[in-house]
Amino acid sequence: MPNRKATAIACSNIAFIKYWGNRDDALRLPANPSLSLNLGDLYTTTTVAFDKGLEKDEVTIDDRPADEATRARVSGHLDLVRQRAGHHTAGRVVSRNNFPAGAGIASSASGFAALTVAACAAAGLELAEAELSALARRGSGSASRSVPGGYTEWVMGKGNATSFARSVAPPDHWGLRDVVVIVSREHKVVGSSRGHGLAVGSRLHMSRVAAAPAMLAACKRALLARDLEAMGTLIEQDAVMMHAVMMTSRPPLYYWLPATMAVIKAAQGWRAAGLPVYFTIDAGPNVHLICEAARATEVETRARGLPGVLDVLVSRPGGAARLVEEHLF
Ligand code: PMV
Repeated sequence: MPNRKATAIACSNIAFIKYWGNRDDALRLPANPSLSLNLGDLYTTTTVAFDKGLEKDEVTIDDRPADEATRARVSGHLDLVRQRAGHHTAGRVVSRNNFPAGAGIASSASGFAALTVAACAAAGLELAEAELSALARRGSGSASRSVPGGYTEWVMGKGNATSFARSVAPPDHWGLRDVVVIVSREHKVVGSSRGHGLAVGSRLHMSRVAAAPAMLAACKRALLARDLEAMGTLIEQDAVMMHAVMMTSRPPLYYWLPATMAVIKAAQGWRAAGLPVYFTIDAGPNVHLICEAARATEVETRARGLPGVLDVLVSRPGGAARLVEEHLF
């Protein structure tokens, strides 16, 4: 195989119906289906070069060598691509997030989606979108949803090849905004890979998982009908249900801070006063406020005025992961 390199860009995403818990941890087969929106303004650009001159995989993230645990996780993902392509050449991975490091925005979804698309192209593999999504899933479950564009659904599937995400509506279907309210920049103590494994320890988990397909179907209907009130009610319910599972796991995971609750309370107050905005929260303390484009500046200004808010980022819907460059060297 000649030395070849490729660069890809992939957006982060915010889940409306969350993925939490696996039915197979090794393959990252989810306990429930999930639905999300790609975030076009928060993305990762990754270059992968398979180079016969290298002895082992090298990984640089945001201009710094990755720590050994991250390097090993990325290297494990490159192994999946190499196995599929039938070669053993080591790779150099250079990845950059356009959002500030420590902004509390998880980079695993955009990171593993961009890594998958770049590594497959650099290995000379031509895979269909569903295959790329299923492969990205192995690096980080939510990365499967950053491969297709716009509003995407990760179907549970029956096994490795059938558990992938697909687009349910393009980015321009609905001009929603995600107003990300940052109340902490600290690195989370328990990452989501470990958190998924703890979910089964909560008695609430099975109840959430049993309800998830119907929640997703209702949320998708509201999304396709552009009904923010119906969709917003469901996304808040699911986010709180996921955090209830986290808080009742053993050991419990409390990701919320007092400022998290303060943003929730404020959003409820704004809504009661006529501003349509709904919250969701990932595995961390920061709050994502979902609203229509016309109200985003108002939501952002109000959020900036809340005590304990460190920063606010606003994102539009985003497209599919894409290859931007590919060549031999
Ligand atoms: O892809 P992971 O393993 O980082 O899990 C993501 C989990 C949540 O962000 C909490 C929910 C989701 O569906 O994105």
